[in-house]
Amino acid sequence: QQCRDVNGFHKIILREVRGFSAEVYLYGGQVTSWKNELGEELLFVSSKTNFKPPKSIRGGIPICFPQFSNYGSLEQHGFARNKFWTLDPNPPPPTNSTSRAFTDLILKNSEDDTKSWPHRYEFRLRIALGPTGDLMLTSRIRNTNTDGKSFTFTFAYHTYFYVTDISEVRIEGLETLDYLDNLKNKERYTEQGDAITFESEVDRVYLSTPTKIAIIDHERKRTFELRKDGLPDAVVWNPWDKKAKTISDFGDGEYKHMLCVQAACVEKAITLKPGEEWKGRQEISAVPSSYCSGH
Ligand code: BG6
Repeated sequence: QQCRDVNGFHKIILREVRGFSAEVYLYGGQVTSWKNELGEELLFVSSKTNFKPPKSIRGGIPICFPQFSNYGSLEQHGFARNKFWTLDPNPPPPTNSTSRAFTDLILKNSEDDTKSWPHRYEFRLRIALGPTGDLMLTSRIRNTNTDGKSFTFTFAYHTYFYVTDISEVRIEGLETLDYLDNLKNKERYTEQGDAITFESEVDRVYLSTPTKIAIIDHERKRTFELRKDGLPDAVVWNPWDKKAKTISDFGDGEYKHMLCVQAACVEKAITLKPGEEWKGRQEISAVPSSYCSGH
């Protein structure tokens, strides 16, 4: 279902039979809502965001392309989150016939990005709700340069999970891994703790992680499971109180209710020759903690 928001911007609503739903803005190609069958919102979106250019939308799942954060000379997180994507009128049928609620968005090079990133590309983003409400994002990026040139990019699904109280949240699956600490000049450290908990600002790129990561919201007794493919790294970010105050589209106390865990490819950038395509996938599900084996 396609509709417009109060400012007239296009969004797409996906619904699956059990009652899960998702909302996707063409601006940014960005998921801005993911609700379970009870209508509970599972993603964080700041009350301060205004859903219109020139700022990107603060929350949901911004797409970081062709650069993650400031790991390069382009604008922070690249330009994809500030572009209007288009709807693919003839999307290929889903390979997995169980995901009927899906939408395909397309982003192609435009005049203004050729100045900073002089390449032709086609980025196809499929956003689908699985039969049990899983939110699945699949990106296919193709080098369509006609001048024989390769291009290189980094990438992240900048997922803002809604959590009840960040102090009562734990991440499992990143223990003992190496990470780059963005708060310490991207220096490399090794995670020492048994599981990751939060009591101050965190901004890290965990390297070569397992494909499954669990985010456990103890207060809500809910576990988010993140599964990824083609994206070796995982970014973990919470600005905490002081940094949050410096971000204009972020409410002062809102850091308590969000945690970004992002399937990403940061340390080793991806290079595509003309005609080559890259695929990167992130799936997230939300289940009552007791149902989640091993947690
Ligand atoms: C995270 C980065 O992914 O995004 C942080 O690791 C950054 O360093 C954060 O502060 C938010 O970025 P932005 O550009 O959306 O404010």
